[in-house]
Amino acid sequence: MPNSPQTIGESRLRIDAPAKCTGDTRFLDDLRFEGLAWAAPVVSSTPFGRILAVDGAHCESLPGFLDLVLARHVPGENQVGVICNDQPLLAQETVRYVGDTIALAVAADEATARRAAELVQIKYEEFDPVLSIEQSRAARSDYLHASNVACRHRLRRGEIAKGLRLADLVVEAEFRTPCQEHFYLEGQGCVVLPGEDGALTIHGSLQCPFYVQKAVARAMGLPFAAVRVIQAPTGGGFGGKEDLPSELCARAAVAAARIGRPVKLVYRRREDVQLTSKRHPFLMSYRVGVTRDGRLTAAEIRLDHGAGAYATLSSVVSYRAAVQAAGPYVIPNVKVDSTSWYTNLPPNGAFRGFGSPQATFGHERMMDHVAEELGMDPLELRLRNVLRPGDRTPTGQLLEHSVGAERCLKEAARAAGWGLSAEGAQSGSSGKRVTASRSKGGTGGGSSVPAAEGAEETGRRYLRGRGLALCHYGNCLGAAGWFLDGAGARIRIHRDGSISAAFGLVEMGQGALTAVAQMAAKALGVSTERVLVEPTDTQQVPDSGPAVASRNVVMTGNALRDAADKLIPVIQAAAAELLECAPGDVELAGDRACVRGGGEAGSPDGGAVSLSFEELAEHLFLSNRPMAALGWWHVPPLSYDAKSGLGEAYFSYSYAAHMAEVSVDTLTGRVRVERIWAAHDVGRAINPAGIEGQVEGGTAQGVGWALSENYLEEGGRVITNNFSTYLVPTTTDLPEVETIQVEEPEPLGPWGAKGIGEPAIIPTAAAVANAVSRALGVQVDHIPILPEEVLNLLETAASTESRTG
Ligand code: MOS
Repeated sequence: MPNSPQTIGESRLRIDAPAKCTGDTRFLDDLRFEGLAWAAPVVSSTPFGRILAVDGAHCESLPGFLDLVLARHVPGENQVGVICNDQPLLAQETVRYVGDTIALAVAADEATARRAAELVQIKYEEFDPVLSIEQSRAARSDYLHASNVACRHRLRRGEIAKGLRLADLVVEAEFRTPCQEHFYLEGQGCVVLPGEDGALTIHGSLQCPFYVQKAVARAMGLPFAAVRVIQAPTGGGFGGKEDLPSELCARAAVAAARIGRPVKLVYRRREDVQLTSKRHPFLMSYRVGVTRDGRLTAAEIRLDHGAGAYATLSSVVSYRAAVQAAGPYVIPNVKVDSTSWYTNLPPNGAFRGFGSPQATFGHERMMDHVAEELGMDPLELRLRNVLRPGDRTPTGQLLEHSVGAERCLKEAARAAGWGLSAEGAQSGSSGKRVTASRSKGGTGGGSSVPAAEGAEETGRRYLRGRGLALCHYGNCLGAAGWFLDGAGARIRIHRDGSISAAFGLVEMGQGALTAVAQMAAKALGVSTERVLVEPTDTQQVPDSGPAVASRNVVMTGNALRDAADKLIPVIQAAAAELLECAPGDVELAGDRACVRGGGEAGSPDGGAVSLSFEELAEHLFLSNRPMAALGWWHVPPLSYDAKSGLGEAYFSYSYAAHMAEVSVDTLTGRVRVERIWAAHDVGRAINPAGIEGQVEGGTAQGVGWALSENYLEEGGRVITNNFSTYLVPTTTDLPEVETIQVEEPEPLGPWGAKGIGEPAIIPTAAAVANAVSRALGVQVDHIPILPEEVLNLLETAASTESRTG
């Protein structure tokens, strides 16, 4: 219908935006409950040791003190490991990091709970802690757990020795990327309400309601059916609320059941940083073979990452990093070893991209090393090797559809004017000094070094450079997590024509509610305004797995289509009765039902030619028809061999190319990202404005990780535990971002859509480091690129120049 409102592919204001802007949204800590008690964690002050004694005697005399919950009080299994059973819910014998939770102090108010927690005295036998990947590798192999290795993944394709022999050039390099703290604006928190018959209701700031349901049932020895989890509006997750809420909720559940009152547990910022997961730090070594004309023949890659004290989600990170380590390129011979090492630091876990930003830093810095050695333009080198339809990925997976990598590269290059700017075009131009004069090198704008900052000065104070990075991202959980990769959604039509949609994944700030409303509306041929999306609740939909891995649009969209496919015949049959036509001739679109091909003229006998959705809903009700349906979708089976790492690792891939333009202040060493051009193959855009938001947020996180977020610990204690010391970029630090949406429809995606949440951050840091490398004329192989580091690199460059020059 010509006037039918567009429901997908049209930019929508986020449904949750107004309430979040006015402050009306009630986050977890705003929720009030009758008889609420507070819990505070009692945590290990040593990174590694044996607990000799826990003395809570001093708490007892505090007015308002209610309980001290210890491991022996856990009624079910004292275990919260999400993949491996290596993590007690409450530590009883051994503590493995500063922040390992030993007990919960419970009191009538938060201050008393915190005071009580401080008064608990713990005696330890302390062991020498392991505080780095290198130390873990060097330690006795069973020093930390049964093995110091939390998990390993490998990939063996072709013959690496043969591949290297076929190369004209073999290039080697090592890279290092640090931890990254999520710094979601809202910290971790939950409330557990004890109900009749031992059942529990949980409200929490969380990503994975079904993980929490399982963890609480396990710790409490309850059936899943007795544990209801309702997601509270969540102020950011980024992976940090994937596994952690299971810990908080299960501990608070033990307390709530014991005292028979609602218990709230909220981590305050410093505590949140000390106790919760980060992005895994990576050490990477790459050896790549290439022919003189720029064809990749072999890639031999070693990835070592720091798991922290417990394995948590390390295997997800390790698997994904291994699959993606060689990049979106055609490489016939590939060998990858990916190993996660235990340490005595906070357990690292999911963070936007699950190891992809790290692996992408590796393969994309590597591509620039290779380009430099070949004297080839970095864009040209990528174009010679990029995956196209009909190619096989480094795991040997045949790609047939929706392979937008080449288009992303070309679109980003075109937008950025890559090849027009003198700096970007010349091969081997690394090290070329470009001053920050007002001539913009044909970039179509973006030069924003303030004149006051010295554009008019000596002309040599600022160096400029541009870098690019390409990535692929396997959508959803992949072969290793296939058993969890299904999701549900429910559509309910009300008698007045309004519609409720429920889904099993969550809104955590990424814009899911809006996309879900748009997709539900599209599936039923109605306008988006008609759809109200319900808060995620484990009682509304079957276990839909975790809200991670950029899954929401693909999983929920397909589940909504399945639900609509069940409802549409019912609606058509009802409409046919009133329209006096065959059900198959009823068309649903634009909030109306009409007879297919009925035109505007009206039926010959004067009957109705179309019905409003309100009339239709009322008739559905009055004719006793079912007005709700549950939809389900799961990822198709994947053929993959874990031993060799070969096969269909993911059912589909998103692609992205980021180009960054930086200026480097040679006086202060400060790097500024002036501009980012971000081209993303999203399959099909559901909410283009939402995609833009994701890309702006993702690139911001990538710029922070690349330049300013300097995670520091001392003796296992995180020093950079607040916004004053851990420098998350603010709006004034961020570049202008141009988002380019490339649509290469994915046949299995809903209306062709693929995930965007994580691809948004994945290539950014690599693009920035490539740009800085080209500006300085030195390979910058680790991040963050702090000012002092830049000054050191400049000195290195100067001394190299004077030796060779
Ligand atoms: Mo995110 S790393 O998929 O929770």
